[in-house]
Amino acid sequence: MSDHYLKRRPRRNRKSEAIRNMVEETKVTTHDLIFPLFLVEGSGKKIEVESMPGIYRLSTDLMLKEIESCLKLGIVAFDIFPAVEETHKDKTATKSYDPGFFYLKALREIKSTFPEACIMTDVAMDPYSSDGHDGLVEGGKIINDKTLDILGKMALAQAETGIDIIGPSDMMDGRVGYLREVLDTNGFTDVSIMSYTAKYASGFYNPFRDALDSAPKFGDKKTYQMNPANSREALIEATLDMEEGADFIMIKPALSYLDIIKLLKDALPLPVAAYNVSGEYSMVKAAHHRGWLDGERVMNEILLSIKRAGADVILTYFAKEFASARLR
Ligand code: PBG
Repeated sequence: MSDHYLKRRPRRNRKSEAIRNMVEETKVTTHDLIFPLFLVEGSGKKIEVESMPGIYRLSTDLMLKEIESCLKLGIVAFDIFPAVEETHKDKTATKSYDPGFFYLKALREIKSTFPEACIMTDVAMDPYSSDGHDGLVEGGKIINDKTLDILGKMALAQAETGIDIIGPSDMMDGRVGYLREVLDTNGFTDVSIMSYTAKYASGFYNPFRDALDSAPKFGDKKTYQMNPANSREALIEATLDMEEGADFIMIKPALSYLDIIKLLKDALPLPVAAYNVSGEYSMVKAAHHRGWLDGERVMNEILLSIKRAGADVILTYFAKEFASARLR
């Protein structure tokens, strides 16, 4: 065979596992992952989220156990969301900054039990809002600047529990700069901000809204979350977040937005996070359950694709499963 095309054989670099491993460009490690967890009030509670098999709403006592077992597996970072009873919700999300509320009490307990764990919190009104929106609703509209005031109180109350990173997920204008100022003037200069920079108005959040009972009571989130058709807008959001003092920028969801991950990674020097969201998790679980694909294999491929696109950090419901699978 003298065909000159065949003098070049890329398959040589795939011929054995040893060589494949040598030339492997991207590796996902447990250090890259943040595990989102859902907290409920009470004790002894472990309630599976129906649309997210393997993911539970946990009361503080069981969450402490869960965090302990994750730490042993090498997962060191957690993003904790509260599932709030309807009776505790109101127009202005008052419970979000009540230091006696179970979420803030739990954060304090988690940080004092596991000071080495990196704890991230969510800053947005939706879990506490009787309107189910991320911002304050007046006359059917989301009021940006009045929302900032509430987010500031929420962020401060969370910072006071000793957490490491706040994650503003609300998409209000100016909130990163405002929260940085509130944190700094109150002595919390060490609390990081991982901004939900390019958060799209996505159909992939539904299982999360089931987990927290946080679906909007009217309308949708399109006046604050981004249009899935747009990428240039992500550059505006990212530039502003950097100017306003974000420590990390986040893209969310991940899989339908790999191009945005790459775009922001190339455009800015900040670390990039991607949120592999609830619906992305549920799709894999549902298909695996039906025998339509191999869930573990697809999980690895998905996490790899997010990292290859440029994410330094991945928030994923697969975190514990990924860590356990590596040890087998
Ligand atoms: C709300 C928030 C959402 C998620 C994280 N924070 C949902 C929403 O905007 O409705 C979604 C996460 C997921 O789907 O896994 N501030």
